[in-house]
Amino acid sequence: MNVLKQILKWGGGGLLVVILVFTIFVNLSHPKIFEAPYPDIHASTDSALIARGKYLAFGPAHCATCHVPMDKMEAVEDGLDMPLIGGWSLTIPPGTFNAPNLTPDPETGIGNYTDGELARALRYMVKKDGTLLPPFMAFQNLSDRDVQAIISFLRSQPAVKHEVPATSYSFIGKALVALGMLKPTGPSQPPPAHVPMDTSVAYGKYVARSVGNCHGCHTKLDLVTGKFIGEDFGGGFVMESDPHIPGLSFVTPNLTPHPTDGHIVNWDEETFVKRLKAGRIHKGSPMPWGANSKMTETELKAIYRYLQTLEPVAGKPERIVLREG
Ligand code: HEC
Ligand code: HEC
Repeated sequence: MNVLKQILKWGGGGLLVVILVFTIFVNLSHPKIFEAPYPDIHASTDSALIARGKYLAFGPAHCATCHVPMDKMEAVEDGLDMPLIGGWSLTIPPGTFNAPNLTPDPETGIGNYTDGELARALRYMVKKDGTLLPPFMAFQNLSDRDVQAIISFLRSQPAVKHEVPATSYSFIGKALVALGMLKPTGPSQPPPAHVPMDTSVAYGKYVARSVGNCHGCHTKLDLVTGKFIGEDFGGGFVMESDPHIPGLSFVTPNLTPHPTDGHIVNWDEETFVKRLKAGRIHKGSPMPWGANSKMTETELKAIYRYLQTLEPVAGKPERIVLREG
């Protein structure tokens, strides 16, 4: 009996020491600074380029659905044109993440950011201050030209002073970063210089993967590590109820051409284009319907054609809208 008590005492003590050392390690390594190159991409005042940047920001790249105050999100999706003053906030296990002001105000916005710092944030997920930009913004494979267009648009906005609270990490979040489980990633291949918009599968793939992040939601994801755990475009990613969607959870449908399980196998190109153009049906759905409905018909056709080329994945998420309880 005594021996057992001794072992428990020392074993318990050992565990305490391990926990203590780990806690100190995690707190000391926060905030972790990462290295990444500054892309040689510069803002321009060319009006066509600024227009393309604005189209991307309010349309397929949907910067505008996060970088505006939460009470303006739906109005922006419905067409309200306003500067990207920041304000969207999301609390998940790794912390509370607040989307900052992206107008050229030097104190509360990006007025003090260089073009290289903005381009690096998009392409390498490293913030101006060297810390990680968590995986909310899957723009690492954007073309040079589209990065240039977006930066040019951001710089063309009026400067608006609007303070957004800083992002804060929970212990879990700090631990994931300290252990290297949450870290910045760069482009998966050398990014293209320019991908011209047309109805080709190649452009559809570019929009679906590198701009609109369709696969990011339509593939099962582990919300703690930010890693994909399901088949590409197989759906089934459950987005629990949060302040944006009180009382409702949403599950993404399978967008692959699986003959029985694919959600859109019976949709022809026209049906697909019409559905995307029609926008939101389910109030509170996390899909950026408003932004996606602003995509051109050419772009939507390209996405449809790309989806047809995917590997069919079995599995049919039962309902895409779940009521809590
Ligand atoms: C799903 C929501 C979401 C979308 C979409 C989004 N962002 Fe963000 N963005 C965030 C959040 C959240 C942060 C703050 C993260 C943090 O502080 O750790 C952020 C931070 C940033 C930063 C700050 C980097 C720094 O150095 O401080 C820039 C620049 C930025 N976003 C640009 C963009 C652009 C441009 C787009 C569209 C092409 C975009 N974002 C789309 C949520 C989003
Ligand atoms: C932020 C997450 C998110 C992103 C990004 C996203 N979706 Fe969705 N999508 C959802 C969710 C959740 C649903 C189910 C609820 C709904 O229909 O609104 C859905 C539903 C759909 C549907 C079925 C609609 C219906 O009426 O049956 C289609 C088609 C679709 N998405 C295509 C796309 C395409 C194409 C893209 C990229 C341009 C995309 N999604 C990007 C989350 C997302």
